[in-house]
Amino acid sequence: MALTRESLVTRDANDPLGKFRDEFTLPDGVIYLDGNSLGAMPGAAKERIETLVSKEWAQDLVTSWNVNGWFDLPARIGAKIARLIGARENEVLVTDSTGINLYKLLSMALELRPDRKIILMEGSNFPTDNYIAQGLVRQLGQGHEVRFAEKHDFEAQITPDIAVVALTQVHYKTGHVYDMDKITERAHDAGALICWDLCHSAGALPVNLEAAKADFAVGCGYKYLNGGPGAPAFLYVAKRHQGQAQQPLTGWWGHAEPFAFERDYRPAGDIRQLMSGTQPVLSLAALETGVDMMLRADMHVVREKSMALGDLFIALMEEQCAPYGFELISPKNAQDRGSQIAFAHPQGYAIMQALIEKRIIGDFRAPDVMRFGLTPLYTRHVDVWDAVQGIKTVMEQNLWKNPRFAKRDGVT
Ligand SMILES: Cc1ncc(COP(=O)(O)O)c(C=O)c1O
Repeated sequence: MALTRESLVTRDANDPLGKFRDEFTLPDGVIYLDGNSLGAMPGAAKERIETLVSKEWAQDLVTSWNVNGWFDLPARIGAKIARLIGARENEVLVTDSTGINLYKLLSMALELRPDRKIILMEGSNFPTDNYIAQGLVRQLGQGHEVRFAEKHDFEAQITPDIAVVALTQVHYKTGHVYDMDKITERAHDAGALICWDLCHSAGALPVNLEAAKADFAVGCGYKYLNGGPGAPAFLYVAKRHQGQAQQPLTGWWGHAEPFAFERDYRPAGDIRQLMSGTQPVLSLAALETGVDMMLRADMHVVREKSMALGDLFIALMEEQCAPYGFELISPKNAQDRGSQIAFAHPQGYAIMQALIEKRIIGDFRAPDVMRFGLTPLYTRHVDVWDAVQGIKTVMEQNLWKNPRFAKRDGVT
């Protein structure tokens, strides 16, 4: 039986996650399919920031570091994120950006494998990870090397000369998911350490770092954790590695006793050593509201819905948009993909601009990839239906050909 819009309305009415949508501030008439870039705003974030600004900052001033718990925010939110990624509470910290955290962790990993010189990464990964590793190697000046491999033979490239594997679990363009348990085991068998980038995993699918015996991980707060633009990132260091190596940005917040104001650096022996300096309190507070909401959702139910939304998107595109030259580059098998669907199309940029003008918001990744993020807490089945109808209209009516859609903005 062919799907109808009405049947999807019914599916949404029975969706156990349906109630979460009301907790977000989404503009009327917008179909937001870009939570894999910037998550929608939790209404609670606005309230929290208002209180923070008008009471904690304006009235309580500097005493807020103690009385309003500002000083503890990185560890407190870290402990909450730990529950989403299968870590223990003293293994995760919220601080800095994903890239800066990766720098710190790769540096520690190389310290822990002094006889090895290779960092193994996926060349097609989100480029900042590669750039950061290249910058670290250059700065170390000790003959380290970043080696790249791709999905088809990544595992085979984990050879006994690798010091650390740095791999993103869910690919930023295709949404392909690596098997964390298997790759981690393979890295360990080769004597290497592993650092997972969970940017497209945290809040999108169940992750269990502890079960996988992962060594390190990083991830951002602004995608599926709905932490807001520029939200601080998180990092994970397995307890067994804490105190065994030192992150290189040795600022006072990572000192054993920051308020002893000693002349020389003495590392904190726990996860706090991974901090460098004063943390962005406003951003941390916003992130906490997103994480708190995520913790109320069952990640397995989130995953089920995410896979169903993806399957629906693919089926409707096949049914409605077959003549228009979209190539599905995400895995068709739901288990193998994260919470996004991506299509390659030579006119992808202009098509996406035309869709955005119709208030269907996804994004574009050069050279030709259109990404649609499916965020189960607020994306409805009917949104997928309407988005595909929108794509069909843009193609049928050649709306994308309007020259104004060819102009590239700074952020795509
Ligand atoms: C896989 C991955 N890593 C890292 C980043 C960005 O890192 P940063 O927080 O340093 O900007 C992104 C951004 O989208 C990403 O997709």
